[in-house]
Amino acid sequence: MKQRQLGTSTQTSPVDGSSTDPLTTSAIGLGCMGLSQGYGATDDLESIRLIQRAVDLGVKMLDTAISYGQGHNETLIGEALAGRREGVTVATKFGIIRDERGVHLDARPEHVSGYCDASLQRLGVEAIDLYYLHRVDPQVPVADTVGAMSELVQAGKVRHLGLSEVTADQLAQATAVHQITAVQLEWSLLWRQPEADIVPAARRHGAGLVPYSPLGRGLLTATLDHTNVDTSDFRRSDARFHGTHLQDNLRQVAALREIADSLHITAGQLALAWLLAQGPDIVPIPGTRHLDRLADNVAAADIRLDPADLHRLEEALSHLAWAGDRHSFAVPVTTRTPS
Ligand SMILES: NC(=O)c1ccc[n+]([C@@H]2O[C@H](COP(=O)([O-])OP(=O)(O)OC[C@H]3O[C@@H](n4cnc5c(N)ncnc54)[C@H](OP(=O)(O)O)[C@@H]3O)[C@@H](O)[C@H]2O)c1
Repeated sequence: MKQRQLGTSTQTSPVDGSSTDPLTTSAIGLGCMGLSQGYGATDDLESIRLIQRAVDLGVKMLDTAISYGQGHNETLIGEALAGRREGVTVATKFGIIRDERGVHLDARPEHVSGYCDASLQRLGVEAIDLYYLHRVDPQVPVADTVGAMSELVQAGKVRHLGLSEVTADQLAQATAVHQITAVQLEWSLLWRQPEADIVPAARRHGAGLVPYSPLGRGLLTATLDHTNVDTSDFRRSDARFHGTHLQDNLRQVAALREIADSLHITAGQLALAWLLAQGPDIVPIPGTRHLDRLADNVAAADIRLDPADLHRLEEALSHLAWAGDRHSFAVPVTTRTPS
């Protein structure tokens, strides 16, 4: 698999003088959330086999979070990586807590070390390669949380820091404390709002980009329609997958599929190749529970779209023709604004 670099160059922390090298990892990662929640039934043994197969196919970046299945997802990764951790980029997140009270945020500095220790134990690793703040906690200045995260780097428990779903201002405040290697964000043909602000901001601050839901939560694979789109909790609550919005979006997907057919690739592969073509600093993390789909997604790393293909896509899938605001827990931007 082709490799990519997150974080532009060796950066020095403005606060403690420590330096952070860029993080080299596979061009496409594996989003593991669906192996614990969100997209339907799972089988742990099959999930472990899928993670191992991904690593065998050259996928280095494995993306998880404390909140996915309340630790279940990290435990799965730990089991899958036993004896084969070398070369894998283990990326996890803290800050969203799911418990008996429901879902809430906690990024208080005094709790960060405890969350990290629990993740290290579940993952069965001595250090986390990329540790993200999943959501900024509105009760806590982001600089304070990142200060606590930077102590984990000094302690050797974490190698790189990341932020998920942040504004440009929050990224600036965080970067003033410690280099941020990666910004994770929802970004796909279905959701292009980040191109207006956080994508250029991340580049200004030398952070790489990790698009989540890069297949538009499955819609961009051209395998969903009004009969099966509701099979996922993750889509059920989201306006993009209902009523006239869904109809508009399916028209766009039909155009995507037509171009994919002409290139002899799948619609999902075209969606991933489009993201990869937006810059060398991008590592999408598609998720799947199925081995055949995993192979399809991984193969997208070798697809190179030329400027004519990209132009054709822009023409056929107008930016403005996608419909519906997004639904995601505690994210800064949910509204689709024309640009
Ligand atoms: N930072 C955050 O707040 C955040 C939020 C959401 C997700 N994430 C991360 O991003 C990862 C990916 O996002 P996501 O899983 O929400 O969305 P996604 O990757 O855009 O789409 C996943 C959906 O697409 C289907 N799919 C995958 N490959 C396919 C293929 N080749 N053909 C047909 N269908 C296919 C999957 O179904 P099957 O499982 O049935 O194959 C699933 O329904 C997650 O696993 C998680 O690690 C992060």
